[in-house]
Amino acid sequence: FSYLPVKLQEELQQTAEAIVCHGKGILAVDETNEGIGALLAQVGLENTENNRRNYRQLLFTSDDVLSSYVSAVILYDETVYQKTDSGVRFIEVLGKKNIIPGVKVDKDVVPLPYTDEVTTQGLDDLAKRCAEYKKQGCRFAKWRAPLTISANGPSALAIESTANVLARYASICQTEGLVPIVEPDVLLDGDHDIIRAQKVTETVLAAVYKALNDHHVYLEGTLLKPNMVTPGKACKERNTPEEIAVATVTALLRGVPAAVPGIAFLSGGQTEEEATVYLNAINKVPMKKPWALTFSYGRALQASVWKTWAGREENLIKAQTELIKRAKANNLAALGQYNF
Ligand code: 13P
Repeated sequence: FSYLPVKLQEELQQTAEAIVCHGKGILAVDETNEGIGALLAQVGLENTENNRRNYRQLLFTSDDVLSSYVSAVILYDETVYQKTDSGVRFIEVLGKKNIIPGVKVDKDVVPLPYTDEVTTQGLDDLAKRCAEYKKQGCRFAKWRAPLTISANGPSALAIESTANVLARYASICQTEGLVPIVEPDVLLDGDHDIIRAQKVTETVLAAVYKALNDHHVYLEGTLLKPNMVTPGKACKERNTPEEIAVATVTALLRGVPAAVPGIAFLSGGQTEEEATVYLNAINKVPMKKPWALTFSYGRALQASVWKTWAGREENLIKAQTELIKRAKANNLAALGQYNF
């Protein structure tokens, strides 16, 4: 038996570690064209390639101080090839700031026939796409696989399918020289309590790491992007940040090998403040934590930016300042030093 070539192992591990060092985290701007279209519509703009480019240019041309808080950015396919107004590739702009570019490679969900659940597609041409992204300068990839908590779900079928797809994705990425960010997302939707959320998260993580092991994935060259363990959005019983921190770290300790260098949470529909306060509590809770615990937020880093920008050129600097404010708050939270 032989693993990935040692040189490639080292490269992947170095990249994974660089992404989660010093409380830095990931800015996720990999909304699909449809997803960003809805946000553009809210500020009265049409969903054109140029409007999508212009918004992302706003983020990437923020003050260089951004790179003290953000180590990496997740791009969408189209964004990998886009340029600033002055013709510089976005990937180059990020590189000059010492920010590592990565890319979303899943092709969203499809129904699992004869169930009300889903699985993720995109494996067929993945090796080819990874090789192309690597050539363009990307150093990591991400694949999001959502699972829903319902009366009897997620089912064993959905969990097994998700775990296997994530493991196939991760092994293909590593062979092509990209660090896979593995994202099993147990959704916030539902009225389940925190105890149920914790048990489901533990079951899903155990299945995912069994599959990663079966597929010979080099764990030191991966990152995990999980949900935090919280009560469902519609659950009447609310928990404190400390309770959320204990449930989250307990589930992670039970399911995530210590060989994984870092865990970067998704925000999953939490408000900006919640996402920061919970991350801070997670880093402060007095429990064993063998991995870096940081952020990979989409909505929780951009909600204020969209509100402040409102699609108007004259608000550009103010909107960039909001991004830096959130990034700094989350950097402090990843160090357990956020004061509110
Ligand atoms: P949110 O932080 O908005 O849940 O984004 C999740 C995600 O997967 C983006 O890459």
